Formats: sequence, structure tokens, C-alpha cells
Amino acid sequence: MRIGVLGTGMVGHALGTRLVETGHEVMMGSRSAGNEKAVAWVQAVGDAGSEGSFADAAAFGEVLVNATGGLVSIQALSSAGADNLAGKVLLDVSNPLDFSDGFPPTVVQPDGRSLAEDIQAAFPRARVVKALNTMNADVMVHPRMLSAPHSVFLAGDDAEAKAVVRDLLLAFGWEDGEVIDAGGVRAARGLELYLPLWLSLMGSFGTPSFNVAVVRAD
Ligand SMILES: NC(=O)c1ccc[n+]([C@@H]2O[C@H](COP(=O)([O-])OP(=O)(O)OC[C@H]3O[C@@H](n4cnc5c(N)ncnc54)[C@H](OP(=O)(O)O)[C@@H]3O)[C@@H](O)[C@H]2O)c1
Repeated sequence: MRIGVLGTGMVGHALGTRLVETGHEVMMGSRSAGNEKAVAWVQAVGDAGSEGSFADAAAFGEVLVNATGGLVSIQALSSAGADNLAGKVLLDVSNPLDFSDGFPPTVVQPDGRSLAEDIQAAFPRARVVKALNTMNADVMVHPRMLSAPHSVFLAGDDAEAKAVVRDLLLAFGWEDGEVIDAGGVRAARGLELYLPLWLSLMGSFGTPSFNVAVVRAD
């Protein structure tokens, strides 16, 4: 598939690279074409990678990834253009974290809503699926780096869109039973509010290379 990855940070790089490795053509988008980090990424991944503006990447992709800072995601997606998002699966990995008071950051969402819901409301023709925001970028794309089964969650209102994201995750190396459908886009509330615990655990463990596993009774 052609996939537009909006975001030039470590998540955009990790997902963009793994998507290329798993057979996709990827355009990395940023606020302006020619972004230094995006150009370096294209040089690293070769012919299946390209870069451009947020709008270029959104127009290019059949599937899109929002890997922009959570506090600026609505702005970034607005500059990508609502028409370029229309009808497309939008995998949202962002977290609305405010680092203005230093580390650890606080989760910023008014009235208990999630950013994913706000994105879905702002771009109703996009097919938003929240996933992968509950772990570090390396774990997202190399799940087998952890020695035991662990969990990744999907939240979104569009079942077909969730199936598309599930297939991308399986190609990364996730096992089917590890990909848990948490419900509609509203379930993203819990996925985003998990971040304070994730940050505390990272402090306790001294590494971001961990994840949670959901264990159910048979
Ligand atoms: N780091 C992780 O392991 C991890 C794990 C889970 C989830 N997340 C979430 O994934 C997202 C990406 O994280 P990251 O660390 O890779 O990158 P990031 O530094 O949070 O975001 C980088 C992207 O945000 C864009 N951006 C910054 N200011 C902007 C503005 N005012 N308007 C529009 N776009 C703007 C940048 O555009 P330019 O390219 O033009 O500079 C860049 O593409 C975040 O929401 C983060 O919370 C991160």
C-alpha cells in the first residue's frame, strides 16, 4: 500500500522504516517539504521512501499515520487537509502530553475526552483508529523484542479500519491474540490516560522497553 506518515520524530521514523520493511511505499510528511529529518530518513530507507509536506503525504497515502505531537495534531492534520484524509484509515499514535513543566509531562485533554475523539470529530470523513500509543516506538514495530506475549489496543468506530490496522500490526510481528479491540473511538480515553502509568513505569524500570499484557480467564 501507499502510506503517508505524518511526523518526523522517532515514531515517524520507526513506523516509516518498518512499513517500508514490510512492503509498503511510504511518504513522510512534515510542516514543510525538505525537512532535514525526513530527508535523512529517505536516504536511509531508499526507493520505497519519499518525503513532502503534511498535505503531500496525506494525498499520497491510502492509509495515514498521525505521528505528530499530540498538542499540535489537529493543526498538523488541518494542514494535511480534510479532503486528503477523507475515506482513509488514520492510525493515530499520538499522545496529548504537555512537557512545559518538564518531565514527567501531564496528559492534556479537556472534559475527559480523548485526542482521538477530537480528531475523529474534527475530521469526520477520516476513519480514525487509535493504536500503539501505549508503548515506546521500538516496541511498536519490533514487538518480538520482548520475551513474553504482550498487548496492543485498537480503538475506533470503523471495524474495517481496525482490520486494516490489525493487518499492519501482524506484519510488524504482533500475534493476533495480542491485538485487542478495546472498542469504539471513545475507548481511546483509557489508552491516552494510561500514559501517566507508562511514564511512572519507565522511571521505575529505567528503560522504555517494556509493555503490559492483558491476561484473561479462559
Ligand atoms: N516517542 C515515543 O516512543 C512515543 C510512543 C508512543 C506515542 N508517541 C506519540 O507519538 C507522537 C510522535 O512522537 P515523536 O516523539 O515521534 O515526535 P514529536 O516530537 O512528538 O512530534 C514531531 C512532529 O510534530 C510536528 N509538529 C511540531 N510542532 C508542530 C506544529 N506547531 N504544527 C504542526 N506540526 C508540528 C513536527 O513537524 P516537523 O516535522 O515539521 O518538525 C513533527 O513532524 C506524539 O504524539 C507522541 O506523544 C510517542
